[in-house]
Amino acid sequence: MTKRKCVLVGCGFFSAYHLTAWQRLANRVELVALCDLDRARAQALADRFGIQAVHTDLDQLLATQRIDFVDIATSPASHRAIVDICARHGVPAIVQKPIATSWDDANAMVETMDRAGVPLMVHENFRFQSAVKHAGDLVRDGAIGEPTFARFTFRTGYDIYAGQPYLAQLERFVLLDLGIHVLDVARFFLGEVASVYCQTQSIRPGLAGEDTATVLLRHVSGAVSIVDRSYQGHHQPDVFPQMLVEIEGRDAALRVNTNYLVVVTDRTGRQKTSVVAPEGFGPTSDRWLPTQDSVVSIQRHWLDCLDHNRVPATSGADNLKTLALVEAAYASAAANSPVVPSAPTASMVQS
Ligand SMILES: NC(=O)c1ccc[n+]([C@@H]2O[C@H](COP(=O)([O-])OP(=O)(O)OC[C@H]3O[C@@H](n4cnc5c(N)ncnc54)[C@H](O)[C@@H]3O)[C@@H](O)[C@H]2O)c1
Repeated sequence: MTKRKCVLVGCGFFSAYHLTAWQRLANRVELVALCDLDRARAQALADRFGIQAVHTDLDQLLATQRIDFVDIATSPASHRAIVDICARHGVPAIVQKPIATSWDDANAMVETMDRAGVPLMVHENFRFQSAVKHAGDLVRDGAIGEPTFARFTFRTGYDIYAGQPYLAQLERFVLLDLGIHVLDVARFFLGEVASVYCQTQSIRPGLAGEDTATVLLRHVSGAVSIVDRSYQGHHQPDVFPQMLVEIEGRDAALRVNTNYLVVVTDRTGRQKTSVVAPEGFGPTSDRWLPTQDSVVSIQRHWLDCLDHNRVPATSGADNLKTLALVEAAYASAAANSPVVPSAPTASMVQS
């Protein structure tokens, strides 16, 4: 099989998870270069992962070499400019979440890639967590009947500031950084959203933005869900980075519990339990192992989509609908009233 040539742009905290995943997919992908404005940082990562070339100028690199896709793991404010470069060179791209820091930028990026006729996938990995993915399959296969209510929870006291100190400076923090994942999972299970009501809190001293947000969604289907997440949840066991889900349907209920237990309970109280943990998951495993597993899973999905000319589940166009929920949540919190999420403005050339 011919390997696809990839350049990874952005060599900070999260890039190692992308690279570890590409290593696991090494029979399908060749990492030809790393690119970062900070050459020393890129070199250190290249040495660690055995990658030959290091660049600081993606535009020049794409002008001189045939690259099959670019994997963007840079700071969110840089995403639009880098996607523009990819579009100019007609190169498909994966971009980390949040796709952009503004609604206008995100729509422009989707439109630009669409006009260039190349795929754009947002690296939205939470719906690729093993248990979440399995639960989604069960719900879509009718295991609980029509969903009527759900709660999607991510509350932790894990010190995320150690690896990502920049988070403390973000004026739009938990909704845009983490909430976007959980809102995407809500769409994944219950479909599009008709209205959003949100309350935010800034609990840890010294933050520029909110670290806790509670959102009530009314879905187009009529189902209602609560999306709640906090970086100041001090429960034990602290299950970071697992997402917990409970869904009630007309026929049965489903829970994604701690330790990747997926439990379906029918009206008579009969339960069916499956354990859908990532390989190697256990009390002594690396805390980020479930995240790493979901990163492998979404990157494999991207390759499958390229191979079969399919639109990724978390395409740029799809992800605009998730970003719209984040924007609506901020607007709702500011106005203290429900908000109808905006429709994407990107006018698509192709689907
Ligand atoms: N999906 C997840 O679970 C998850 C987890 C953590 C971070 N992230 C996302 O990953 C992205 C990166 O986060 P991070 O924590 O690694 O950030 P970071 O600040 O540690 O690293 C960002 C890197 O991008 C480089 N960079 C910035 N602008 C650039 C440009 N124009 N060209 C080339 N390089 C540029 C910086 O020099 C830096 O090395 C963000 O979008 C973040 O939200 C996702």
